[in-house]
Amino acid sequence: MRGSEIENIPIAAPSPRALDACRRCELWRHATHGVPGVGPARPKIVIVGEQPGDQEDLQGLPFVGPAGKVLDRALLQAGMARDEVFVTNAVKHFKWELRGKRRLHKTPAQREIEACHYWLESELNASHAKVVVVLGATALKSVLEVSNVGLGKVLGQVLEHAGRAVIPTYHPSYVLRLREEQERDDAIQRIVAALKKATELAEA
Ligand code: URA
Repeated sequence: MRGSEIENIPIAAPSPRALDACRRCELWRHATHGVPGVGPARPKIVIVGEQPGDQEDLQGLPFVGPAGKVLDRALLQAGMARDEVFVTNAVKHFKWELRGKRRLHKTPAQREIEACHYWLESELNASHAKVVVVLGATALKSVLEVSNVGLGKVLGQVLEHAGRAVIPTYHPSYVLRLREEQERDDAIQRIVAALKKATELAEA
């Protein structure tokens, strides 16, 4: 596909084919699939993660690996069904490096977040959702369209951007990295609180 044709892809939720054809950055080169968001056409809430992980890259679906299990647990505790919400990522291709035989996640660079913002924005627009839960710093930067925002400063707040309420919280992978059970429980409760706040705002 030529560059001009890529520019002309209409703004709508991207198909896997459109993402596989994307050349806006170099991450497609080492990824199996571009991973679009999944959820109802008109969700009230969109949840944005960072990028597909190993399992997501292989299956072409967001949040189906270990971080997805944490997200599912938080959704359950918040009284929400996964199929009610649209779940997606700021970056659509898996960025990784090989360590032994394992493909380990690498944080996307700002230029990759910006390149992929086109796709995230198309999903946000197509959804018409007015409430967005952002999981972690990469999603926060992408949704707010800034490079210099830290998650710690805005955790627990409701921000406003482009006519949407933006609720920042921890990324589920952060929970998985915590060593103490109490710390993990506390972090999950922060995610649950963000999801509950999102429901409250979406129903208001
Ligand atoms: N982490 C993410 O940010 N997104 C996924 O889809 C899986 C893991």
